[in-house]
Amino acid sequence: MNFEALLSERLAPALEAVAGRPVDPIVRRSRHADFQSGVALPLARHLGRAPREIASEVVARADLAGVAVAEISGPGFINLTLADELIAAAAGAEMLGPPPLGKPQTVVIDYSAPNVAKEMHIGNLRSTVIGDAAARVLDWCGHTVLRANHLGDWGTSFGMLIEHMIEVDGTAADSLADLGAFYQAARAKFGADEDFRTRARLRVVALQSGDERTLALWRRLVGESQRYLLTAYDRLGTTLTASDFVGESFYHEMLASVVDELEAKGLLRVSEGALCAFPAGFTGRDGEPLPLIVRKSDGGFSYAATDLAALRHRVRDLHADRLLYVVGSPQRDHFRMVFAVARDAGWLPESVSAEHVEFGSILGADGKMFRTRSGDSVKLAALLDEAVARAAALAADPTAADPTAASLAADPTAADPTAASLAADSAVAEAVGIGAIKYADLSSDRISDYVFDWDRMLALTGNTGPYLQMAHARVLGIFRRTDAVPGPIRLGEPSERALALELLAFEPVVTGVASTLEFHRLTGYLYAVAAAFSSFYEKCPVLTAAPEVRASRLALCELTARTLRLGLGLLGITTPDRL
Ligand code: ARG
Repeated sequence: MNFEALLSERLAPALEAVAGRPVDPIVRRSRHADFQSGVALPLARHLGRAPREIASEVVARADLAGVAVAEISGPGFINLTLADELIAAAAGAEMLGPPPLGKPQTVVIDYSAPNVAKEMHIGNLRSTVIGDAAARVLDWCGHTVLRANHLGDWGTSFGMLIEHMIEVDGTAADSLADLGAFYQAARAKFGADEDFRTRARLRVVALQSGDERTLALWRRLVGESQRYLLTAYDRLGTTLTASDFVGESFYHEMLASVVDELEAKGLLRVSEGALCAFPAGFTGRDGEPLPLIVRKSDGGFSYAATDLAALRHRVRDLHADRLLYVVGSPQRDHFRMVFAVARDAGWLPESVSAEHVEFGSILGADGKMFRTRSGDSVKLAALLDEAVARAAALAADPTAADPTAASLAADPTAADPTAASLAADSAVAEAVGIGAIKYADLSSDRISDYVFDWDRMLALTGNTGPYLQMAHARVLGIFRRTDAVPGPIRLGEPSERALALELLAFEPVVTGVASTLEFHRLTGYLYAVAAAFSSFYEKCPVLTAAPEVRASRLALCELTARTLRLGLGLLGITTPDRL
């Protein structure tokens, strides 16, 4: 349900009559009433009238019968209180379907994009988690989502890797089983051995000129990496599949034509031996134009050239309406310049949006990049193992982690020892541990850095994954203790009304997130739902209520469970039935 839209629709004709032109009523949730419109205030200046007068006239003209009662407050706010019957009926009919969709878009989401022959580490986490949430939300909204895993599977480091592979192959049968060690060993050799360096350079040339034996080795290396990545994605619970791998190598054959086309359009200049574009508006510290290098002085194509080729391909061949790049903030300038050059080249028409869905870094408690004690980057597998182990320990004794959690875990009416079972159930520990990591990531403001804090993300109270999973399981627990079924919703207690109103705000929240990709707004919303449920459950007995009240309250419980499950699901977080 979208009450903002409904109320706006009801106010709009009255507002247009008063203002003499169409005006957006800007209806918002409010602490002072259910909803509020402040539209009279900015309008007052334009019309040269007092805002309260404008507000009164709008309210007098608006057809709000059966929908809401309006009151003027303060300097001229219109406070809107919805009719209880409307809320009850809407909550009873809420299907939690996707928001109405105009024209579905084709959205290409570039995310995860680790580098081949390296183990996944914490630096790959945010792009994978945020990108997957974006894919899930936009997919659910009805758009055509194309996942593009822009794997780093091409470039000069492959000379070294392939050469190393040749050398260890006879000696180490399973040399690729441990990708991290494989990469380290290749690097070490490259650093120490002059002859190896020469062979590695020749190998790059062989690879780029399409030497069949070299290509076969390269394919094996990439294939092995992809197999490993798919198991990592599977454990993390992402929707990325084998067909989403569209690595940098895919664009290799398009690079020459990208450069030719830019050159023909007069967009390139030679600078210090490199071919560069100088998009307008990008200058360095001294005001000199900044280059976007497309072809390096050694003749090799750049990272930017590949992104230009990918962009052109996504718009021209995949017919994308919206391009998302879920990549860390350090690449902000890179993407701004790529988008600018693409616009100049005519590859990015006005009708297509290109967005850098940027994100901050994960920091340790010391405020520096999160690393292991020895200063290495944290491996994803180790991180997930620890999360799951901590989740299992936590649930075995919820009170140990946080004394206030006892009330949540131990439902007084429950003959359902939910908490104790978690340690025994590894699937649940997996869901809670990994859910906690994802939730912590998605609930922090995307663009800011955030501090990785086990205790906070695994807390059983507060705005955390485990708390919301527990809230969900707790609601399902109610249904395990009764044969009674939900019925029509009738609102008596204020906490019932508040819960229903909160539940009905799902649609506008998801609509907002689909456009801004600010996932902390969805987590914040789900947390508010859980809080509203808590207040409701404290004040309103469910199972012991009279049959009709019980049926109504069960309907609210049921909608709460569905909302939490769907909302967490859109974030890629699973909701076990019991914790
Ligand atoms: N592999 C790159 C890196 O590790 C990220 C790629 C992001 N996507 C893109 N289209 N440039 O930095």
